[in-house]
Amino acid sequence: MAHRTFIRNFIFLSTKFSRHKNYHNHRIFSTTVPLLNKKQIEITFVKANGERDTVKGSIGDSLLDVVVNNNVDLEGFGACEGTLTCSTCHLIFSKKDFDQLPNKATDEELDMLDLAFELTDTSRLGCQITLTEEMDGLEVKVPATINDVRA
Ligand code: FES
Repeated sequence: MAHRTFIRNFIFLSTKFSRHKNYHNHRIFSTTVPLLNKKQIEITFVKANGERDTVKGSIGDSLLDVVVNNNVDLEGFGACEGTLTCSTCHLIFSKKDFDQLPNKATDEELDMLDLAFELTDTSRLGCQITLTEEMDGLEVKVPATINDVRA
């Protein structure tokens, strides 16, 4: 009996509020729609064995987000989840792309990079690189070995 009363009240209230005069004049605040509408670009991860994985990432995401969101198969990548304590997100850029990155490495990132295997002059940590529109089509090399400095 209580169940029927609940359902009757639910239907009544649903009907009442959906017909409420001001209901359609109010905007409901939500961050979901803008997040879903973020522009996407293509990134290619080139593994040491030559295997290529081209995936999409949203502007404002980090390269670590791109790997995680697309389930890119990179063993041990991003072990510290972007807290700058592992260096497993080490990626190698072409000289041209490296020079065009929007931000330079901080001292903390450079300290962590010093501990990464296969370090190059164009190495960066993926968790510190934020996607911009200009990065569409970016290719990054993934080193053959990683060093989780926490281990
Ligand atoms: S994910 Fe650990 S330093 Fe980037």
